[in-house]
Amino acid sequence: MKKGKFYVTTPIYYVNDVPHIGHAYTTIAADTIARYKAAAGYEVYFLTGTDEHGRKIEQAAQAGGEAPIELADRVVVKFQDLWKILGIQNTDFIRTTESRHHGAVSEIWRLVEKNGDIYLDEYEGWYDVRNEAFITETQVEEIMKLPEKTRPHLEKIKEQSYFFRLSKYQEPLLLHYSEHPEFIKPDYRRNEVVSFVEGGLRDLSVSRTNFSWGIPVPDSQGHVVYVWFDALTNYLTSLGFPGKTQDFENFWPADIHLVGKDILRFHAVYWPAFLMSAGLELPKTVFAHGWWTVEGEKMSKSLGNVVDPCKVVEEFGSEIFRYFLLREIPFGQDGDYSRKSLVNRVNGELVNGLGNLVSRSLSMTERYADGVVPNPVELSESDKAIANSYKETKQQVRSDFEELAFNKALSHIWEFIALVNKYVDKTAPWKLAKQEEQRNRLETVLWTLAESIRVISLLIYPFLPETACEIRKKIGLSTGIGKENTDWGYTKPGTIVKKGENLFTKITDEKK
Ligand code: ME8
Ligand code: MG
Repeated sequence: MKKGKFYVTTPIYYVNDVPHIGHAYTTIAADTIARYKAAAGYEVYFLTGTDEHGRKIEQAAQAGGEAPIELADRVVVKFQDLWKILGIQNTDFIRTTESRHHGAVSEIWRLVEKNGDIYLDEYEGWYDVRNEAFITETQVEEIMKLPEKTRPHLEKIKEQSYFFRLSKYQEPLLLHYSEHPEFIKPDYRRNEVVSFVEGGLRDLSVSRTNFSWGIPVPDSQGHVVYVWFDALTNYLTSLGFPGKTQDFENFWPADIHLVGKDILRFHAVYWPAFLMSAGLELPKTVFAHGWWTVEGEKMSKSLGNVVDPCKVVEEFGSEIFRYFLLREIPFGQDGDYSRKSLVNRVNGELVNGLGNLVSRSLSMTERYADGVVPNPVELSESDKAIANSYKETKQQVRSDFEELAFNKALSHIWEFIALVNKYVDKTAPWKLAKQEEQRNRLETVLWTLAESIRVISLLIYPFLPETACEIRKKIGLSTGIGKENTDWGYTKPGTIVKKGENLFTKITDEKK
């Protein structure tokens, strides 16, 4: 029985450059949410893709002496391959150069125009190509203070342009933010957006004539749709818009647009204004997460410190990478990626915490019970304490997920793992095994451990899908998750377990 529908999106990434950990972060977070919801019985639609039009892509292609579509065709594969190695289970992958997208953008343009929100005028001012954004004189002054190496390329523009009446939506947007406080998350980000909008909205230039790599404005000569107007529409395109499809019916409005804080304004101001104008429903939540630095420094091509997710996965595997990104920082806040903290978390939490619990529990079951989960005979207080702690953990993890507090959810799960490890130390099955009169007690402890491992596999699944499946194979369970009872107590006595290989190996290098 399906509980409901759930639609989660990532930004569509620019193909001017290969993916880095920032892109991987958002997509892993979205995948974790998608898996959590699917396991909870929701029908999930999870969209990611690439943003392939615009001045920035055109320039990057020119610089490399290729056509923009050649650049896009080459780089899109890097994103798609990365999502495969990271175990990302997206429903669809959209490229803005696809014809289905062309149709959707033309249609939303027409709807907005029909509503009287498009007019022709002249734009004179600055354009920041890196961010594909029109910027004010004050912003230009700020940018000029940056060191030359890291400064984005600015273009002075004077051209005929179509404008969108964004100013008209200032009050409707403010009203929406106050009536739907969940529209922008976290709260501190909502406050930033509210003060920006309260500061006054100017109409937005939504077409360009000084380049051609984009979708033509319907019924006009020489105008190309502004790349953000084009890109944001992807969230509709994938569902079949403008067709009246079942997917559109089921999944629009989106439940969560996950974005980095860099592009919150586009998603929380422009996008809802376009949608209001077009007469379409607004997404329920735009969640803006924080920014990663690397070893304490801003990640940038000019500094040469961009972390390639493929290399990280090659060295540590995708599970460790997923775990670190989601565990290290509260979702929403900025954080630092460092090899040292990754190694510490792997050794302390994955090897010693989870890995150790699974391997010692199963090795004792092999040694003292021929690898067969025994019957729990009489429950003592310490066994019941584990069961109760699981019930609490499950509740906590559920509410952590409601706020997308991945790090809290993981720390609650690891508190449970620590408790079970302590239970092993206290019950000392190796001592019980030496006393025949303790046989019942030993069997109850071994069953409690098998059941603990089962429920841990359910808890970690959205974050560490492969590890969860490996664990489940060891305890004779199917790897499909979602149909199984998540309450305490469902491990069947008689199940055959296999300790097999360790889940994680200690990292011993001294590299920084
Ligand atoms: O902005 N830390 O694409 P983009 C955390 N095409 N997240 C990071 C990050 C970092 N250092 N760097 C990038 C675009 N990200 C547009 C989006 S959507 C309709 C169009 C992540 O390739 C984060 O999600 O510049 C950020 O918002 C996104 O990558 C920007 O990717
Ligand atoms: Mg960017």
